[in-house]
Amino acid sequence: MQTALADTGGRPVAIRAIDIVKRYGGVVALNGVSLTVGEGEVFGIIGPNGAGKSTFFDVLCGITKPTSGRIEVLAQDVGKISPHVVARSGVARTFQRTAVFGEATVYDNLLYGRHASFTHSVIGRIVGSEAYRTEMAAFRAKAEDVLAMSGLSQDRDRIGNTLSYGVQRRLAVAVALMSDPKLLFLDEPAAGMNGRETADFIALIEKVAQGRTVVIVEHDMTVIKALCGRALVLVDGRPITVDAPEEVFRHPEVITAYLGSDDD
Ligand SMILES: Nc1ncnc2c1ncn2[C@@H]1O[C@H](COP(=O)(O)OP(=O)(O)O)[C@@H](O)[C@H]1O
Ligand SMILES: [Mg+2]
Repeated sequence: MQTALADTGGRPVAIRAIDIVKRYGGVVALNGVSLTVGEGEVFGIIGPNGAGKSTFFDVLCGITKPTSGRIEVLAQDVGKISPHVVARSGVARTFQRTAVFGEATVYDNLLYGRHASFTHSVIGRIVGSEAYRTEMAAFRAKAEDVLAMSGLSQDRDRIGNTLSYGVQRRLAVAVALMSDPKLLFLDEPAAGMNGRETADFIALIEKVAQGRTVVIVEHDMTVIKALCGRALVLVDGRPITVDAPEEVFRHPEVITAYLGSDDD
């Protein structure tokens, strides 16, 4: 792999993936992907449809076990812990398909986002335990911050499926922020947005990225160029190059791959 910007430039390591292979029967979704992402980076992953981008996210979050290879995320061996332990250690993600509860309000969607970090029991909730009250107070404070940051304060009582598509995508990011992640994975977050929504979204992610590591899969190169210092190109499960976004499209294999695909 050509690696002009292959390392983290001296930053502490947030993600280290070593020689990841993932096979589904005869399909090789990931074919020897190695990557190091530094703390505080906004890192892009691009590549044609079917390149393995979503699979790579699943593997990094511990949702999917790789066929072989090793992953460390926030200094933990992802192969040895379950996905909810990965989540509790400060990792959150959004999914390629909108993951908003359409029947629930914006505010209730945020409550679901916080749920994973609750420790109070159901009984504690019924009897109004101290733990329950403390966690609900923390939830309400966090929800106000997240609503303000994501520009959703006006929309808190609106039902999910009445929101415009762009607002639903922002809500998906807001839900992920409720756990106050140190590391955030965004899978095609701006897909289907119009130009105005995309510009607002870039501004949101710039704010979100303060003090966090963000890894973003996105087809819209405007988003990648605006946000990412480095980007990895995957083609057919293989890493082609890691470099600055404006450089990766000079790579001959990247040009060939994109000319040969009809979705980009
Ligand atoms: N659960 C699965 N079972 C079988 N094949 C899968 C599964 N998930 C992904 N694949 C295959 O792996 C390849 C990579 O898919 P994916 O990671 O979704 O690509 P991308 O997100 O880059 O579009 C594709 O060929 C896809 O069909
Ligand atoms: Mg995908």
